[in-house]
Amino acid sequence: MSVGIKYQSGFGNEFASEAIAGVLPEGQNSPQRVAHGLYAEQLSGTAFTAPRHSNRRSWLYRIRPAAVHQPFQPLAHAHFHNRFDEAPATPNQLRWDPWPMPTAPVDFVDGLVTIAGNGDAAAMVGAGVHVYAANRSMQGRYFYDADGELLIVPQLGRLRLATEFGVLDVAPLEIAVIPRGVRFRVELLDAEARGYVAENFGALLRLPDLGPIGANSMALPRDFLAPVAAYEDSEGDFELIAKFQGALWRASIGHSPLDVVAWHGNYAPYKYDLTRFNTVGSISVDHPDPSIFTVLTSPSDTAGTANLDFVIFPPRWLVAEHTFRPPYFHRNVASEFMGLIEGAYDAKAGGFAPGGMSLHNCMTGHGPDAASFEKASAADLDTPDHLTGTMAFMFETRMVFRPTQQALDAPGLQGDYYRCWQGLARHFAP
Ligand SMILES: [Fe+2]
Repeated sequence: MSVGIKYQSGFGNEFASEAIAGVLPEGQNSPQRVAHGLYAEQLSGTAFTAPRHSNRRSWLYRIRPAAVHQPFQPLAHAHFHNRFDEAPATPNQLRWDPWPMPTAPVDFVDGLVTIAGNGDAAAMVGAGVHVYAANRSMQGRYFYDADGELLIVPQLGRLRLATEFGVLDVAPLEIAVIPRGVRFRVELLDAEARGYVAENFGALLRLPDLGPIGANSMALPRDFLAPVAAYEDSEGDFELIAKFQGALWRASIGHSPLDVVAWHGNYAPYKYDLTRFNTVGSISVDHPDPSIFTVLTSPSDTAGTANLDFVIFPPRWLVAEHTFRPPYFHRNVASEFMGLIEGAYDAKAGGFAPGGMSLHNCMTGHGPDAASFEKASAADLDTPDHLTGTMAFMFETRMVFRPTQQALDAPGLQGDYYRCWQGLARHFAP
């Protein structure tokens, strides 16, 4: 865990933070002169006229406005894009081995590889799914994504996310969200880093409604942590990389864009410790739908039908009586991309390793493999099962995740994944 880094607690709160006392103006946002010769700049994450409960914006008080940089030029990136129509979407179950670590020096941005996606950054609908594998910090370069907010799920190695709003340190079993447009640099706090990224083109991720669950449980707002203001006052030959409409661009910039001395507002990066999740489950019979494991949701225009859900399968007790306790066999209208941060997933006896991933698209049958089915069918249900040392997650979406050509060509794609269900024997005895 990080030592010495301060955070502000809450989800979507009206935060206020200043690295130099007295910078934030009183009673207005944009005074004629800001203290210490700073510029005032608004960053809007939703439409000006979005309903108040979903309206997100912040005011930044900075050394130079974000407009100060040289013109952008296209930047080639072989693996990070939003080309979701390169290959026919397949109804097959797909699974990959842990994504390989780089052998040459690679930073976070260069180490991004697009696995799948749907929708369209231009229409602000859908999501991209990427993995990253890196072995060095971003040096003299900064990145922002105009196409969506980035939900970063570290699996290996800690990251320091130096952002316009301050610093977030995130470790495996934590997640971070960098809002659309926020400029940041990724430093590695360990020798190597690997993880998953959901690039959400749609409505901002928010906490799900709780319905009959009540006011508490699942992810608690106070466990979400935003950074406190921290600025870099440095000049040099730096690079600003933008992701815009599915492609990368680069501009020269003569100063660090992380020059925000103070800010206030409710549009800011945040992080969350997944081990804080208050997991709800059955204490009678049957297995609730996995929506009870939703940490964050990006709603669509259709009520109850998410553009993107972030769901986790954390350590928990399984106590349901006369019940098949692992996840049931199912086919969903939704499409499911899964990753594993640590441990084992209770529906698979093997083949799904930390750093690996699976994709089960709309109406593709899946569920426990044969070994897991036989074991759970014969298990003693008089005692609870305690699942420990595990953390799987899912990016779930209303639209089919179309795998990229590079994901289908990857050596780690398991051609024999379908076999894990072939051993499910006929037990029918009329
Ligand atoms: Fe599933």
